[in-house]
Amino acid sequence: MDQLRFDGRVAVVTGAGGGLGKAYALLLGSRGAKVVVNDLGGSRDGSGKSNFADAVVQEIKAKGGEAVADYNSVVEGDKIIKTALDNYGRIDILINNAGILRDRSFQKMSEQDWDLIQAVHVKGAFKTTHAAWATFKAQKFGRVIMTSSNSGLFGNFGQANYSAAKMALVGFMNTLALEGEKYNILINTIVPTAASRLTEDILPPEMFQAMKPELIAPVVAYMSHESFTDSALVIDSTLGFATKTHLVRSLGAPLRKKPTDEVTLESVKEAWPQVVDMSKTKRFDRMPEVTVDLVGRIQDFEHRSKLDSTHPSYWSTYNYNSKDLICYALGVGASVVNPGDLRFLYEAHENFNALPTYFILPGMSMESPVVANAMPPGKHADFTNILHGEQFIEFLGEFPGTEGSFTTRNYVAEVLDKGSSAIAIVNSEIYQNKELIIRTQQHIFVVGQGGFGGPRDSKVAVGVQPAPKRKPDAVVEQRTSEDQAALYRLSGDLNPLHIDNNVAVASGHPKPILHGLASLGFSVRHVIAKFAGNNSSNVKALKARFAKPVLPGQTLITEMWQEGNRVHFQTKVKETGNVVIAGAYVDLKNVVKDSGSASSAQSSQSSGSLKSDSLFAKIESEVKANADKAKSVGAIYLYNITKDGKTVKQWTLELKGTPGVYQGQPKSGKADTTMTVSDDDLVDIAAGTLNPQAAFMKGKLKISGNIMLAQKLGPLLKTGAKL
Ligand code: NAI
Repeated sequence: MDQLRFDGRVAVVTGAGGGLGKAYALLLGSRGAKVVVNDLGGSRDGSGKSNFADAVVQEIKAKGGEAVADYNSVVEGDKIIKTALDNYGRIDILINNAGILRDRSFQKMSEQDWDLIQAVHVKGAFKTTHAAWATFKAQKFGRVIMTSSNSGLFGNFGQANYSAAKMALVGFMNTLALEGEKYNILINTIVPTAASRLTEDILPPEMFQAMKPELIAPVVAYMSHESFTDSALVIDSTLGFATKTHLVRSLGAPLRKKPTDEVTLESVKEAWPQVVDMSKTKRFDRMPEVTVDLVGRIQDFEHRSKLDSTHPSYWSTYNYNSKDLICYALGVGASVVNPGDLRFLYEAHENFNALPTYFILPGMSMESPVVANAMPPGKHADFTNILHGEQFIEFLGEFPGTEGSFTTRNYVAEVLDKGSSAIAIVNSEIYQNKELIIRTQQHIFVVGQGGFGGPRDSKVAVGVQPAPKRKPDAVVEQRTSEDQAALYRLSGDLNPLHIDNNVAVASGHPKPILHGLASLGFSVRHVIAKFAGNNSSNVKALKARFAKPVLPGQTLITEMWQEGNRVHFQTKVKETGNVVIAGAYVDLKNVVKDSGSASSAQSSQSSGSLKSDSLFAKIESEVKANADKAKSVGAIYLYNITKDGKTVKQWTLELKGTPGVYQGQPKSGKADTTMTVSDDDLVDIAAGTLNPQAAFMKGKLKISGNIMLAQKLGPLLKTGAKL
């Protein structure tokens, strides 16, 4: 790496007669900066004077550097800046380092102890920075370092005055960083811990030896360099380590149940544990972000309150990523043995997608008190007496992407009285950015808890549909693995019934049973392979009733009947002939028959303009101008450009024969390498803000065909790059 130099720069280091400041001054001087070595030369508590600064100046000069001593107090910091301007005609770097201590337990602290510390640390930093500001602004360059302390950030016994001053500098920095931003004035804070006369009686001797200021000086110098671009950082450094500290905020909590309720001391007390819960936090870089966040939270609260007024609701958040989708797909029998399943198992597959049944999971509320709390007086529900009877899911918006975050509302819409047992109809509404995108419904059977005089029939339940009487139109058979339930559990349903022999036997089963939702996942996979072009986003809704349990290792037979856009199905266990899923159906947007192993997604061409169009135009002109070079690549590339997860345009880069760049599929032959990437991501890759390797690893850039050939394209894609 090139040496980071400061030639032509003028640096002021306050309190540079010894300790940390001296190390900073020596380092900057040795790297070409002209240094104003300021030091009042007082003792540790600020009294008296000496000429430390001259010795440091001599040392810099002896090594061929340039420096001048300054003996002003930082309290008159303008004079120190004047020394820089008078001697060198400019100032580029200001390191506010000077400091003293007046430690006393608070009771004994005098007003003078307080004032003196504030004067040197806070007023001193103000005076120097203020005097340099106009020059920084005019030259559109400035690097300022404040010096804080862990005593300020975290508190330290006997240092109330010093802690207050050191924290004041962080607030000072925060605002200056905003005001300086557009003038390339960057303000950062160092939190050092080093052996100096300020710490000689605080640190243990062996530590004192090791904590050399020279280990911190490079951090401060780096943050003062022209190549440094961050601002408003608080960097703690000692012993050759550096860390960043910043403030975060808890997610907090509303202080009342409904926006129309009063806030009372008691409601505050009730919300308190959530107010101070730091298990999830947010970081803000700007004050406006704090307000925007709060307004969003309040709107969210109001939105929820409106919904909650119809039924008591349980809200939760659900996050998922490609790994979760793959784990789930394995749990429901997707296998690399079946090429059509690869799109559910391989995050870099060009059609990587979630299985539709995956999105039942955000609404699963077995562990929540949702059902228990809705039971009529005298009736109870817990995990020993509930059974998952039926399941429904409907996609209302776009099919969700391969990672995301949902807010889910669960509520019991009705409790039906079926005589001996009760059925709770649990609805889930799954929101993404406040938009309702998925609805699910579970029928939860509560054994032995009927007979309370409730309604027998439901007004809201989505019903099962009997299968047609004729022979099935398609049948798929697949054996489940002995480990199927063990694998499926990893998607979140940890009920011991599915893994623990004792629990299974106590519940009347010969061994742990497979999750009903796992069998459902198998069958819906079979349906979409046979009737939906293997395309999850083709599914509009599906419904099933769980009739009997399945044991891991048994073979499932999915029988399917197509009626218009609805595919009825039922699932049997081969070994017993039992129907285990009954009255089930999948509603499709389009029926695409028998393409179980198909991997080609329906890609719709659109002529609408995309951001990446200009990139391809540029590549086209580049290819035209350098036809021979382009030809030598010897390959055809196809780009599927996606928007919101759908391919909206294709581009072919024909870099062999007669090279050309054009919209659509290859005109001659077929693509050696196909790349699928969103319009935005491709533009980011070209601009260099998204690393193609990282994009590939994250599944943002999917490559099929010859992956090695993709690497040859790198230079072509770079904005401004030539062939
Ligand atoms: P030091 O005592 O060796 O250096 C401070 C220098 O500032 C001294 O040379 C002193 O003469 C000078 N000074 C004091 N008042 C001044 C004034 N009014 N005008 C001009 N110069 C003045 O101490 P050290 O440890 O090198 O401290 C440097 C900075 O780092 C201070 O701001 C201190 O608060 C801070 N700090 C140091 C820590 C450490 O572990 N050494 C821990 C946390 C913060």
